[in-house]
Amino acid sequence: MDARPIPAIRWEGGPEGRLLLLDQTKLPSKLEVLEIRDVESLARAIRELAVRGAPAIGVAAAYGGVLALRESPPSPRERLEEALDLLAASRPTAVNLFHALSRLRRRAAALPGEDPATLAAALLDEARTLHREDEDLCASLGRHGATLLEDGMTVLTHCNTGRLATAGVGTALACILTAHREGKRLLVYADETRPLLQGARLTLFELAEAGIEARLLVDGAGPGLLLAGEIQAVFVGADRIAANGDTANKVGTLPLALAASRAGVPFYVVAPSTTLDPSLPDGRSIPIEERDGDEVTSLLGDRVPPGTRARNPAFDVTPADLITALVTEHGICRSPDRDGIKALLDSGR
Ligand code: MRU
Repeated sequence: MDARPIPAIRWEGGPEGRLLLLDQTKLPSKLEVLEIRDVESLARAIRELAVRGAPAIGVAAAYGGVLALRESPPSPRERLEEALDLLAASRPTAVNLFHALSRLRRRAAALPGEDPATLAAALLDEARTLHREDEDLCASLGRHGATLLEDGMTVLTHCNTGRLATAGVGTALACILTAHREGKRLLVYADETRPLLQGARLTLFELAEAGIEARLLVDGAGPGLLLAGEIQAVFVGADRIAANGDTANKVGTLPLALAASRAGVPFYVVAPSTTLDPSLPDGRSIPIEERDGDEVTSLLGDRVPPGTRARNPAFDVTPADLITALVTEHGICRSPDRDGIKALLDSGR
C-alpha cells in the first residue's frame, strides 16, 4: 500500500490530462479526490473551498488556462479570457490567485497565433512551473521560519497553512514541521477556525500526520492563553500583504496579534513573496471576502433561533505594527513596514 499522503493538487497527463484536487471540504473523515475537467468546476472548487489557502488557490487556478483551451470556440484566446475572468471572480482576498492569472495572461500574450494545442502546451508548462516554484518557496519558508522556534516551545497557529494550503510543505505550518524534523520538541495549539474549521479539520490532521503534539483551541481561547504566558510564539499565514505590511489572513487572526502584542509574545507572519500586493497602499484597500451567513448558522444547527442571520467576513487585517517579523523565501524581515516590504520586493527583482 502507498503510504504517501494524497497531494492537495495534482495534474495528471499532458494538455489533455486532468486536474485532481483533494476535496478539503470532506477532510478529515473522507479522503476524496475531485476530478476537474473544466473551468466552471475549477471555479466552483475554489469558491466552495475544496481547494483553499492562498498559495494553493493560485496553483490550482493556474491549471485553468489549459482546461479553458479544450473547450469550444469562439476563439481560443476569447475562451481563455472568459475563463480567467471566471476564476478571478471565485475568491477576492488571496492575491496569489491574481498573480497566477496574470502569469497565464503574460505567457499567452507572448505566443503568436491562435493554435489551441500550442497555447495549451505553453499554459500547462506555466502552471507546472508555478506549481514547482510554490514547492520551493514553501521549503525556504520552512527553513527560515524554523530558526525562530526553540526546543520546548508552545506555539499557536490559526487556520490551516500546511501542505493542504499550498503546493509544498506550507507556510506558517512549514516552520513548525521543519523545526520538528530538526528534532525540536513543540506543543502546537491549533485554533479551530470558525466557521469552516480549517484548524480543527485540516491543521490537526496535518499535525497528526507529522506526529507533532497538538491541542485544539476554540477561537476565543488564544488571547487569554497568550496573556497568561502559556504561549511563546504565534505563527500565521497570509492571504494578501499590502505595501505598508498590513496583512489579511483568516478571520480571527487580528485578536491573536493584539493579544500577542500586549503579552510581548512574538507574532510571525509567514508567506511567500507571491502574497505581497504592492499595488495596495494599506490594509484598508484589501478586498475582504464576505461569505454566506448560512456557513456560520448551519454549524450551530437548531441551536440558534430559526431565521437567525449572520455576518460572515472570511478574513481580517492585522496592522503591520503588530507583526514582529515577516518570514518570506528571502529570509526574516524584522521591520515588515513600508520600507521593509519595498526592500523585500527589490531583493526579489
Ligand atoms: O479561507 P481559506 O481556508 O482559504 O483561508 C486560508 C488562510 O487564511 C490561510 O491562513 C492563508 O491562506 C495562508 S495559507 C498558506
